Amino acid sequence: MSENKKFYITTPIYYPSDKLHIGHTYCTVATDAMARYKRLQGYDVMFLTGTDEHGQKIEDKAKEAGVDPKTFVDRIVDGPQGVKDLWKLMNISNDRFIRTTDDYHVSAIQKIFKAMYDKGDIYKGKYVGKYCKPCESFWTESQLVDGKCPDCGREVQDAEEEAYFFRLSKYADRIQDLLENTDFLEPRSRVNEMVNNFIKPGLEDLCVSRTSFKWGIPVDFDPGHVVYVWIDALFNYTTALGFMNDQYDDYDKFWPADVHFIGKEIVRFHSIIWPAMLMSMDMPLPKKVFGHGWLLLDGGKMSKSKGNVVDPYLLAQRYGVDALRYFLLREFPFGTDGNFSNETLISRINTDLANDLGNLVSRTTAMVGKYFGPNLPACPDADPAQDDELMGLAKGLRDAYETQMEGYAFQNALMEVFKLIGRANKYIDENKPWLLAKDEAQKGRLVRVLYNLLECVRISAVLLTPFMPQTCQSIFEQIGAGAELQSWDSAGQWGLLPVDAPVAKGAGLFPRIDVAKELEELAALEEAAKAAAAPEEEKEPEYITIDDFNKVHFVTAKILACEAVKKSKKLLRFTLDCGEGKPRQILSGIHEYYEPEELVGKTVVACTNLAPRKMMGLESNGMLISAVKEESDGTEKLHLIMLDDKVPAGYGLC
Ligand code: MSP
Repeated sequence: MSENKKFYITTPIYYPSDKLHIGHTYCTVATDAMARYKRLQGYDVMFLTGTDEHGQKIEDKAKEAGVDPKTFVDRIVDGPQGVKDLWKLMNISNDRFIRTTDDYHVSAIQKIFKAMYDKGDIYKGKYVGKYCKPCESFWTESQLVDGKCPDCGREVQDAEEEAYFFRLSKYADRIQDLLENTDFLEPRSRVNEMVNNFIKPGLEDLCVSRTSFKWGIPVDFDPGHVVYVWIDALFNYTTALGFMNDQYDDYDKFWPADVHFIGKEIVRFHSIIWPAMLMSMDMPLPKKVFGHGWLLLDGGKMSKSKGNVVDPYLLAQRYGVDALRYFLLREFPFGTDGNFSNETLISRINTDLANDLGNLVSRTTAMVGKYFGPNLPACPDADPAQDDELMGLAKGLRDAYETQMEGYAFQNALMEVFKLIGRANKYIDENKPWLLAKDEAQKGRLVRVLYNLLECVRISAVLLTPFMPQTCQSIFEQIGAGAELQSWDSAGQWGLLPVDAPVAKGAGLFPRIDVAKELEELAALEEAAKAAAAPEEEKEPEYITIDDFNKVHFVTAKILACEAVKKSKKLLRFTLDCGEGKPRQILSGIHEYYEPEELVGKTVVACTNLAPRKMMGLESNGMLISAVKEESDGTEKLHLIMLDDKVPAGYGLC
């Protein structure tokens, strides 16, 4: 491994405030594919992920859960189906996992904060502005959109307190130059957004400490202040390498990072605040920040509070980890938003994985076994007329794939591989090995056709390894390709598989899914999970329209007579004046609350267009409206709604 072939890649560190969803999984899977690709190319890779555990949101959530914040985050990070479990399940190959509550990180952040303070880039002032609690972001009035947080659209709170500030304004010109004149931030569309929305209106100094809550890294030279969570979080990329601490010793080797993969809503932090702080610390800047799009559900961002999150555990358990990894990176262009749906997931698995890849592997290995098993005899020369297109595609595949991968275009890289897979399947249909097998004179041709197919499978599998590591291992075993034939170098060369490699058809890679049945089952499972997870008050109210409301006729009614219904303990029979020219009879089960005589003469509210129904042989034409409350002991309290006696009968209510 040559000294300069190093690659440092990071994911955002996740807030352990809730279980992670498929949107979080997306970024980590992409980072993992990139890390594995670089390892395949022979790079010495450092892949970092972790958790960002401080801040008011976590403090509040812990309080709600009745535990201290550390116990709370420990459960979500280390507990069952927690962050670490999920990455294990998804076969994430991170080299390091940082928790911002780790001691080495905490003390490093204190030193970094002090260094910026000593330099004069952090100073004490008074913060007056707005704060978005869920985003842990401070905003000035001018940055708000319709008075709300510009990132998440939620309400912001007034905030005023003594605080430390970072001189972000000092770095405005250098940041603008960095964004506009280098490839630091990608995709390029995000550059305009940053420059126009944040830099051109004037970069203000950033509030970097808080006194209103405790759950953060204390400013060691000013007790009562905790470091703003984003300062704490961003420097994780360097403390996890050993910057300002003795826990690790990889800073000189791996910093600056080759790329930070992040979601689009945190581009501002990574492309403005982060480089400015590094400039302040006289540290090299990361080579690239890539802001990927969001996975949307029904057109909106997934969020726990909206109850519209998709559970990666559920999907991985049903379809397999590799199918899910493949889908995430094949379906959506990395730089833009994409709509997640169960239909697209299933259809992608069926078409690409079961039909195209799965069939190619199973047909090829089955035919080798059937006609020659366990391996092919000596292989005759290729027939240029029939084989050149297929072989040309296979020989050029690695370069085409590399071009796409270097641009983080996972979708395109996969499409390149599947062009070869599709062409190979067509090659089977064109060459009809089952007919060749019937003719002894065609035996040589049959061997060549099957060998070509095995080579296509091998080269495809090498390049698919970063995306579907387990599946590709199984493919290599089936076609008898040893470690040296799974390498990056070998993917660039045709004809490396020994003709006598032992081929053994294995179990099907991806079973076909019955779409209709599966969708039904999934919907039921998701519904059940949602119902179990969403606290009552977070459920969307079921709204009715004004037209619906107007359908109900409420009128004021004077009680002309009231008597108990014979043989009924509950029912009272009312004779009412509803202003209709003739009395109306309504039965109401409120005898346990009122005696008939106390109600006569009172003015109440009746619904008059409820369908008539019979009770104890008597017809009830409507309903009297009461205020009802269920007490915690299960008993009910009831008060008939009574109006001032001056209100005449027969008035409609609106
Ligand atoms: N803790 C910060 C990151 C600090 S990095 C120094 C944070 N954490 S997060 O848990 O809220 O989000 C982590 C990542 O998940 C972000 O990059 C975010 O964009 C990404 N995603 C969360 N929901 C997402 C989708 N629905 N789709 C794609 N990515 C999304 O931000």
